[in-house]
This record gives sequence, structure tokens and C-alpha cells, in this order.
Amino acid sequence: MPASSLFSLAPKGPPGNMGVPVREPALSVALWLSWGAALGAVACAMALLTQQTELQSLRREVSRLQRTGGPSQKGEGYPWQSLPEQQHSVLHLVPINATSKDDSDVTEVMWQPALRRGRGLQAQGYGVRIRDAGVYLLYSQVLFQDVTFTMGQVVSREGQGKQETLFRCIRSMPSHPDRAYNSCYSAGVFHLHQGDILSVIIPRARAKLNLSPHGTFLGFVKL
Ligand SMILES: *[C@@H]1O[C@H](CO)[C@@H](O)[C@H](O)[C@H]1NC(C)=O
Repeated sequence: MPASSLFSLAPKGPPGNMGVPVREPALSVALWLSWGAALGAVACAMALLTQQTELQSLRREVSRLQRTGGPSQKGEGYPWQSLPEQQHSVLHLVPINATSKDDSDVTEVMWQPALRRGRGLQAQGYGVRIRDAGVYLLYSQVLFQDVTFTMGQVVSREGQGKQETLFRCIRSMPSHPDRAYNSCYSAGVFHLHQGDILSVIIPRARAKLNLSPHGTFLGFVKL
């Protein structure tokens, strides 16, 4: 690059006027521009500062919400909102698939978590393992599309060397395939122990289920 073009941006005095400081219009414009730039930078810095402050107060609000689990409404609001999160493990499960063992007259559903809070519960194959002992609300729904005269599910607990039924749900089914749709919902409150495996069992081989997450689901709420 030739030197002349390299320095061409520098202000030049008119020829024959060397040494006399003469302000050319281009120079004044440049000065004004740099003033403008400086003012702009100051304005930007102030805006940034304001945003920083707002961000900090937002952060404080979020961390307070995370601690309390809800908006701070002293005196009003719901008392459960202020309970620590760990007290209320939640697990809502939806089906992955269902299978029947050839040698037994049952169909079992494999579950995956759709919503989880806390680590007190763990989906595990065809069951859910309880990690934190305690009192739980359990709910179960299965949507059947089956012409067998009755359909239903059993929620069972396996642990401490025995298996027991916690609750069951039963529906009579219409005999015509076009009308044989029925969902079965049931719920209850139970004391569950650490290591218990909970599962939903349909006491029919090759039961015809609708495995959409709206039709068939299972849930736990620690109370
Ligand atoms: C159910 O899904 C699991 C996980 O994707 C898979 O390992 C298993 O083979 C499936 N079972 C059936 C009967 O399709």
C-alpha cells in the first residue's frame, strides 16, 4: 500500500500555509463526530448499569422463588407454597410400552417420567422405585380399548419380601369393538418404604391399552 493513501485520512493544511493551525470543515466534523461517539458511549454505559441493577434484582427474586416455591405473599397465598421443595417429591409417568409375559395372565406397562420434582422416586423398567420412605398420594389411569367383559388395573407394591395390592380399578366393557373404550382411574394415600417397587398390573394377557400420555398415566406426590 502506498504511503500517500495510508495517511490520506490525516487533516492537511492548505499548501503554503504550513505550521498555521487552520481548522478545516472536515476536521470540525470529525471532532463533532468523536464528541457524539463519546456521548453515545456514556449513554450506553448508563443503560448497561441500569440493566445490571435490574438483572440483579431479578436474580434475587428468582432465587427467593426457588427457595420458597412460590410468590411471597405474606399473610395471604397458600401455606404449602412456602414449604421446602424436598418435602414434595412429584413424579408423573407416561407409558413407553406395554408387554405380556407368555407364562402369566397379566399385562404390564413400562413407564417414563413426564414431570419430576425431587429425587425420592425413580422410574425403573416396569416399576417405580421408592427412594424416600413416606406418605404418598398415588394415582393411576389406564385407557382400555378391549371387548373383554371387564378390564381394570391393580397398583401393587413389592418390597420387604412380599407383594401386595394397594388399590384396584375395574370397568365393565361394551362388547362391540367400536364402543369398547373405557378409562379406569383410581387414587389413594399410602405409606411407602424405601426400596419398594410400585407397578401397574392389568390382570389380562395381551390387554388392549391406549398408551397415549393423556389416556394412561401414573403419578406420585409425596405428602
Ligand atoms: C419397551 O421399551 C423399552 C425401552 O425402549 C425396550 O427396551 C423394550 O424392549 C420395549 N418392550 C417391548 C415389549 O416393546
